[in-house]
Amino acid sequence: MPQKTEIKSVFESKNIGDNISINGWVKTFRSNRFIALNDGSCLEDIQCVINFEEFDKEILSKINTGTSLNIGGKVVESQGKGQNIEISVKEINILGLSNPDEYPIQPKKHSFEFLRDNAHLRVRTKTISSVMRIRSELSYAIHKFFNENNFYYVHTPIITGSDAEGAGEMFRVTTLDLNKVPKDSDGKIDFTKDFFSKETNLTVSGQLEAESMALGLGKVYTFGPTFRAENSNTSRHLAEFWMIEPEMAFYELDDNINLAEQFIKYIIKYVYDKCKNEIVFLSGRLEKEEQNIPKNERNDFSLEERINFVINNDFIRITYSEAFDILKNSKPNKKGKFKFPLNEWGVDFQSEHERFLVEKYFKCPVVVYDYPSKIKAFYMRMNDDKKTVKAMDILFPGIGEIVGGSQREERIDVLKERIKSLNIDEKELWWYLDLRKFGTVKHSGFGLGLERLILFITGMGNIRDVIPFPRTPKNAEF
Ligand code: 4AD
Ligand code: MG
Repeated sequence: MPQKTEIKSVFESKNIGDNISINGWVKTFRSNRFIALNDGSCLEDIQCVINFEEFDKEILSKINTGTSLNIGGKVVESQGKGQNIEISVKEINILGLSNPDEYPIQPKKHSFEFLRDNAHLRVRTKTISSVMRIRSELSYAIHKFFNENNFYYVHTPIITGSDAEGAGEMFRVTTLDLNKVPKDSDGKIDFTKDFFSKETNLTVSGQLEAESMALGLGKVYTFGPTFRAENSNTSRHLAEFWMIEPEMAFYELDDNINLAEQFIKYIIKYVYDKCKNEIVFLSGRLEKEEQNIPKNERNDFSLEERINFVINNDFIRITYSEAFDILKNSKPNKKGKFKFPLNEWGVDFQSEHERFLVEKYFKCPVVVYDYPSKIKAFYMRMNDDKKTVKAMDILFPGIGEIVGGSQREERIDVLKERIKSLNIDEKELWWYLDLRKFGTVKHSGFGLGLERLILFITGMGNIRDVIPFPRTPKNAEF
């Protein structure tokens, strides 16, 4: 029996004459002669050529799209167009049958909605498998960047008692019997009877704990799942998503923005180099898809051009106030084209505003900083104007916000005042305040949404298609 190899290494070594054994799933079986086989190791299927006369007809009749096979054969130069090597098949072993009448992933174009309903099988398609390979390489690049830059990887808890963002959009964690919830003398739920003797939730962000780690380890990052029970049924929101959160002692807002820009460029470039085939494929897919929409809604640039643009150009940096003025005086705002018109300084930007800035006005990624304190979380450092905080958001074409971060409030009196004004219970944050009591230092960090970045790199239109099993309102199948 020849050496078992992966299809990727067959393509890479191109050793004509080698006898090899490969495994995979059948993509197509044409003319009783050509099997396109894929094992997930790379984008391309390998063409396996059968001499019909040499094989048991019974076996051949069982080969359908979706069947898993082991094939033994010789690597030969391809006779046909479209590939330079193929396998001249000597041996076929059927590993697992697949009923062609029931197998949903047929060799034709499926809608993404249909594929979502078949999320357990959709990774067999070229598009989704490309996205998942990119997701994997991107995750590796993230660790590589931080490791090369002397960051420590810390694991912050998934179950927490604090609401980092103060937005109250959390999933409760409890072992209480929901049919017999214990009540205290005031008739309120008695959480002292719960597993942790207090209210607990799935984390919305590892930031607060990462701050504690940074104020001892210097530079740290977390990279894990985060959970938000916000009922936003959009193509940019998941209830469970992955976030990368670096946190650095002795960093001010500028240092933070510089790091974020350097980090984003590094990881995009890594993936662009490593997954060229996938990105070229996805770029072509997008071009075809865009042919179905009106010309003025199409992208002026291809996916590859957009990726290269981000890698090679400085991000624009503007304050919230500057961004506000641009938006307020913009054509769509004056003509009432925005769903949320902008009139008063201090309102939060909606994704239509963010996308106008990035796609129409600057045509470049934009960092907006110094946001009004009213619309940002309690932990952000207050500016001298007492109206704005050292927040920063990075906005990307086609996506909107991809990063949210800030310099943190390190002055205990200012922080306490802020907590009080927001009616947050100071006692719950005792340990967070301790960090400001014992050797407090300036520090900063940010959070990058992994799936939002994958949307940008892959050109996919819906965040549900860049995570294996999406969690969204009313949907936790699989
Ligand atoms: O802006 P956010 O809420 O910031 C934080 O959570 C900070 N604690 C991060 C920090 O400073 N350490 O979220 C950060 C990023 C957003 O910019 C976005 O990319 C992503 O997380 N994000 C989501 N991605 C998918 N689905 C959702 N529901 C998301 N909410 C936020
Ligand atoms: Mg944000």
